[in-house]
Amino acid sequence: MTSPSSKGEDVQRLFDTVPDYYDRMNRLMTLGRHAAWCRDVVKRAQLPAGGSLLDIATGTGVIALEAARRYPGATVYGVDFSEGMLAGAREKPGAEVVTWQFADANDLEFDDASFDAVTHGYLLRNVEDAERVLAEQLRVLRPGGRLVILETCPPRGLLRWPVALGVKVVIPLLGQIVARDRKSYTYLEESTLGFMSPEQVAEILRRLGFVSVSFVRRFLGTHMIVTATKP
Ligand SMILES: C[S@@+](CC[C@H](N)C(=O)[O-])C[C@H]1O[C@@H](n2cnc3c(N)ncnc32)[C@H](O)[C@@H]1O
Repeated sequence: MTSPSSKGEDVQRLFDTVPDYYDRMNRLMTLGRHAAWCRDVVKRAQLPAGGSLLDIATGTGVIALEAARRYPGATVYGVDFSEGMLAGAREKPGAEVVTWQFADANDLEFDDASFDAVTHGYLLRNVEDAERVLAEQLRVLRPGGRLVILETCPPRGLLRWPVALGVKVVIPLLGQIVARDRKSYTYLEESTLGFMSPEQVAEILRRLGFVSVSFVRRFLGTHMIVTATKP
């Protein structure tokens, strides 16, 4: 196992401190939409009967648990490099059907072509080298396997400035009031507004060799769901 990079260590520390209020903050910040997006991610994974799914950066396990619910009989792994977040996932109802495991997205300890689907929510903006992390995902996918990504992205067009202002003000404020943790949620706001567009993520995926790459925007263009297939 390799140790995380310095950005990785900061991110790991940050998430080890947030699990208690993580789900509540997510619900508030997305006005309850996060759960619906996770259902959409799992649906788009199109797991075959008895297939296997790897949810990376699983956090408190919302996507992994939804996958286990939607595809009974599937093998579902939820992995993360924050033991604090994984502890939150393990306590949830139904958690026993998922294999929860420590893993750094930069170096997945799984064999090549191990999974029919790979999913992740809010991983990419937290890593130093998104291309490397996506290449790892291509490696562990089976041919024909699907990758589904949920991520925040900077808003665009006419809504860009008003929405960006809303994100800048509301998220740190909610962090301060609900979680008493303005710093973590200032990081979230900054990493969202500074992150790649869906077009840029799609370009990386095509360069790596993924096919059938497509995306949809959600929530006034502040979220994206990107889907791709390993040829
Ligand atoms: C915002 S949370 C998202 C949790 C969950 N996917 C969701 O949608 O609610 C981001 C998660 O990514 C994890 N993470 C960030 N970088 C990682 C890495 N390099 N390897 C594994 N997990 C990572 C963090 O520990 C954290 O649990």
